[in-house]
Amino acid sequence: MNAAAPLAGRRFVVSAGPTFEDIDPVRYIGNRSSGKMGFAIAAAAARAGADVALVAGPVHLATPEGVRRVDVRSAVQLRDAVLAALPADAYIGAAAVADWTPRAAAPHKLKKRDGEDTLTLELVRTPDVLADVASHATLRPRLVAGFAAETEQLDANARAKLERKRVDLVAANLVGTPGTGFESDDNALVVFARDGSTLTLGPAPKRALAEALVQLIAERLA
Ligand code: C5P
Repeated sequence: MNAAAPLAGRRFVVSAGPTFEDIDPVRYIGNRSSGKMGFAIAAAAARAGADVALVAGPVHLATPEGVRRVDVRSAVQLRDAVLAALPADAYIGAAAVADWTPRAAAPHKLKKRDGEDTLTLELVRTPDVLADVASHATLRPRLVAGFAAETEQLDANARAKLERKRVDLVAANLVGTPGTGFESDDNALVVFARDGSTLTLGPAPKRALAEALVQLIAERLA
């Protein structure tokens, strides 16, 4: 392995940020993902010499040097952009993809009506991009990694996710660790692997965690 560029010749696809699911032309369902973790991973992989495609949901972050960025809005767009960026040696699904989307976005702004004090939205499941990539018949990357933001039973939930989604690594956020998580510059992770091994990283700046995660992936691809 080239020590300065351990990922030279490798292709990475990374997803980052939230998705926005449109209700009407002015409203959407979103979440608080800042995209910082995924952008840090894309940057770390590029620094390690990989060819990196970054599929980004709506975030306000600068494109890391040497990274090809594709901007998307919804879960369906994210799935299409990720599949279009394959084949790759590794897919890292760091995006906080919405699980539900309105059945159809209203073509006009929904109006409040006198006498109606509730609004019912019908939501349908979005594609599970991580599971789709991990079980793809022809385009499955050699290494597929996902994230898990669990608030309880971290181990059991992360291990169940490994199996259910057929991924190789799940990096579980230690939700509730002070100063870490969604909008923070720091995070703490426990990485669960298929082979049963675990690795605790942080609390540390997302840049340092991303480098450790990319190093782990480089070792597994070597
Ligand atoms: O099932 P859960 O949402 O907790 O799993 C989180 C992981 O799955 C993340 O890596 C996320 O990017 C991915 N995911 C996805 N598509 C979805 C939901 C989650 O790729 N619709």
